[in-house]
Amino acid sequence: MDPALPEAYPLPRGGEPVMARLRGGEPVAGLTAHTTQPPGSLASLWSTTETYELFPLLGDAPGEGMDALLHALRRQLGELGAPEHDSSCLVTWPSGDVAATRALLDHGFVPLSCLAIRTPVATVDTKLSGTVKMRRAEPADVDSVVELAMAELEYAALVGASVPRSGAAGLKRDAVSVRLRAKSGPRGIRRADGAPSGDPVWLAERDGNPVGLAECGWVDADNQHSGHRLGNGLWGYVNCLSVREEERGTGIGRELMSLVHDDFAAAGAVGSYLYYNPANPLSPVFWHRRGYRPLWTLWEIRPATALR
Ligand SMILES: CC(C)(COP(=O)(O)OP(=O)(O)OC[C@H]1O[C@@H](n2cnc3c(N)ncnc32)[C@H](O)[C@@H]1OP(=O)(O)O)[C@@H](O)C(=O)NCCC(=O)NCCS
Repeated sequence: MDPALPEAYPLPRGGEPVMARLRGGEPVAGLTAHTTQPPGSLASLWSTTETYELFPLLGDAPGEGMDALLHALRRQLGELGAPEHDSSCLVTWPSGDVAATRALLDHGFVPLSCLAIRTPVATVDTKLSGTVKMRRAEPADVDSVVELAMAELEYAALVGASVPRSGAAGLKRDAVSVRLRAKSGPRGIRRADGAPSGDPVWLAERDGNPVGLAECGWVDADNQHSGHRLGNGLWGYVNCLSVREEERGTGIGRELMSLVHDDFAAAGAVGSYLYYNPANPLSPVFWHRRGYRPLWTLWEIRPATALR
């Protein structure tokens, strides 16, 4: 899953065992370690006084296994008499294991901190091989655009707010068709530099097969909805960036965004913006390296009744 992870991750000495079963009857298990930070201790500065840390053992079922175990943990916390005040449940888990991420989010966990690494030698080779070509998408490319947009939606649904509703592909197709047919560029201007006008949708192809998509648009900050959150001027908007799973980490996203940013600049945009999800293990690192930084944070609770 991630070559930078250590070979083994030790379990704590002691701890309360917790068990659950998958739908097919296979067991998953964990240990819950209860720690108390004494008043005045250094650790009390970054930790709750009472912490219940779950160490899951999920085998090959990170999504269903984590879900089953967290149900069992909730019952166990009741039995252990976990206090409501100054207490927390903690799970430390590989950032890239997105099936487990979905289960953690569904049970109300919020990613409050992350262990991040920097290694002196790049662990991924992102020198783009010469067989990949980038071009503006046309109305005839609608199938490829929808397929790549759906891959992004499915990934985003594992790690965050997106919901893969049953009619999603149709909704995407309608929205993308409008974008691909847009005739004029920002503020109705036809470009003097001869570049295609309309909404900037870019495809990356390897040997003619679509492998990456950057689906973008324009926002005039003074009169469009998201614009209320931005300074005045014309902004480039990145709605969806998606690279086929087996092609990720090879430089395709970077090259697509380099074209997109050049295009935004040529049209006179004051900048570009997008929404990203801090819990997505791929996108924040990618966007920060492209020069993006947080401006507004959207705080949400699901379901609404979980607010306390
Ligand atoms: C986010 C995404 C579009 C990035 O595209 P990509 O083609 O995989 O990214 P690239 O190969 O161009 O990587 C570009 C940079 O990210 C870094 N990077 C990519 N994967 C990395 C990894 N696993 N670890 C560390 N760095 C990584 C590269 O080092 C490179 O940095 P550099 O340009 O400074 O050298 C792609 O991972 C994706 O489709 N993810 C799923 C959908 C998604 O999350 N979309 C974004 C929604 S906001």
